[in-house]
Amino acid sequence: MSSNFVLVVSIVGSTYVFLLSLLRLTQDAREPPSIGNAIPFVTPIWTMISKGVHFHRLMRDKYNLPIYTLRLPGPRIYVINSAPLITSVQSKFRALSFTAIEASIAANVIGVSKATNNIIGHDVTKDGSYLMSFPKYVHSALSAGPGLDAMNRRSIQVITQSLDRWAKEGTTTIKLFAWVRHELLLASTEGVYGPKNPFRDPAMEKAWYTFEPSLMMFVLNILPRVFAREAYKAREYMVKIWERYFDEGSYEQGSELIKTRVKINNDFGIPLKETARIELGGSQAILSNTIPATFWMIYHIFSNPVVFKDVKAELYKGVREDEGVCTIDLSYVKSSCPILLSTFKEMMRHNSSSSATRIAMEDHLLDGKYLLKKGSTIMMPAMVQHTDRSIWGDDTQDFNHMRFVRQPGAKRTNPVAFRGFGGGTTLCPGRHFATTEILMFSALMVLRFDLDPADGKWIAPPTAKSPLVNALPVPDNDISTVMRPVSDKVWTVSFSGYDQGMEIVAEDIENATHANGH
Ligand code: HEM
Ligand SMILES: *[C@@H]1O[C@H](CO)[C@@H](O)[C@H](O)[C@H]1NC(C)=O
Ligand SMILES: *[C@@H]1O[C@H](CO)[C@@H](O)[C@H](O)[C@H]1NC(C)=O
Repeated sequence: MSSNFVLVVSIVGSTYVFLLSLLRLTQDAREPPSIGNAIPFVTPIWTMISKGVHFHRLMRDKYNLPIYTLRLPGPRIYVINSAPLITSVQSKFRALSFTAIEASIAANVIGVSKATNNIIGHDVTKDGSYLMSFPKYVHSALSAGPGLDAMNRRSIQVITQSLDRWAKEGTTTIKLFAWVRHELLLASTEGVYGPKNPFRDPAMEKAWYTFEPSLMMFVLNILPRVFAREAYKAREYMVKIWERYFDEGSYEQGSELIKTRVKINNDFGIPLKETARIELGGSQAILSNTIPATFWMIYHIFSNPVVFKDVKAELYKGVREDEGVCTIDLSYVKSSCPILLSTFKEMMRHNSSSSATRIAMEDHLLDGKYLLKKGSTIMMPAMVQHTDRSIWGDDTQDFNHMRFVRQPGAKRTNPVAFRGFGGGTTLCPGRHFATTEILMFSALMVLRFDLDPADGKWIAPPTAKSPLVNALPVPDNDISTVMRPVSDKVWTVSFSGYDQGMEIVAEDIENATHANGH
């Protein structure tokens, strides 16, 4: 045996023993068990990188723990599998904070000044601070009521007008993702920003598509100015456009949402120049998940003939036809199409890649049992809940568009297990706006167009390159698709009494039950 070999073996051996004792010495017995320590500190990070979005599901299946620790170089990560523990984490929103994460992202991603960052990052877990107040400010603008209605109505008008133009084109070949992305970007931003919407300018749209895919470079702060040069330039270009939008008071013609976003900044003494930067975060919330959600919704409906047939039959029952003019009502689509809504929720269950994240602000004994150390990260991956057989049954890997349709007599699945919009204090406030827009867009597509893949077969694109910050993944490649209007009838959308909420997440269902006096 060569002496080199002996040397290598002994170095490897002693390094291993060193890492193992380091792990044992630093891991408290009351902490959740640490897993994947074949080579301490190395195996977990290696497995995480190689398994991507499926990592947490695989670890759940392999170890079957309610909560576990991942020891990486740097602060530890606690990953939660058990639904009751998620509820516990959500209720301890000061000790286990989301706002602390938002504060650090604000500084890196949108590049606010030091003074602004001090305002945003001040007392992040105290009532009355900027980040704790934010959900309260936007709540009324994004919950059932006139502000939300006006915004949704405007978006849907934009969609209707655009689809009219596409129908006139006759049969066309589109790149499905790029096409959906453009339609939804315009519709959503028109609804929010009003007639002076900066995204009407193709240069602004292009800047967004240049900036957004590089978000992780900014989040991790890996010298984006150097390593994501184009994205950095696009960001600074957009800031200039937003400065003009706010300076000229264009937001006053926009939605309640954009007005409240200006108001909170004014109330906290943030100057308009910085409000312009903060709006990059606003655009991210509005666009980053709505666009892939719509893409997957269209994909699932059109690639599966059974889903398509069921959804279309249900929608057609609500279509009124008068002298060649077909009308569909928004409230019909929102409240009388259980299969369409179920398809949407199933898309979220099937495709959600979000992971709710918290930072432990202090040492915290979760449920009186598990020690979570100060400074560590807590992750609650949606995919783990969404593939739990004890909740969804044995067919969790299948796309079942009827899964969320309430059958008489059948027990409803625990709504808390549906995590597509997060939950607790960080429950997505934009879910009503997004859901309404996506349902109506899908409905109009089903009623008015046929979509067929140009090369004959639907193949689901992979999502390995999708940014990790997304709650829904962006496809890695596009699908060349033939779009054909089904008839030359005129289509309109009516808006009768549509200011009703929808039952999307557990919190909505609870509220509806109270309102009905049950
Ligand atoms: C299908 C589309 C959407 C999906 C899947 C989605 C998903 C989510 C998720 C999972 C969270 C929680 C993050 C966490 O707990 O870690 C969240 C938060 C948030 N979402 Fe959405 N979202 C969507 C659309 C929208 C839209 C259209 C808006 C704005 C109009 C919006 C505004 C927000 C805001 C402001 C927060 C942060 C809440 C806070 O600060 O506490 N979202 N979203
Ligand atoms: C989304 O749905 C498609 C089509 O069923 C599937 O191939 C893909 O794996 C899903 N993506 C994720 C991240 O779950
Ligand atoms: C439920 O209703 C209460 C009272 O109307 C409201 O304050 C709360 O924000 C609602 N929750 C959700 C998730 O809509």
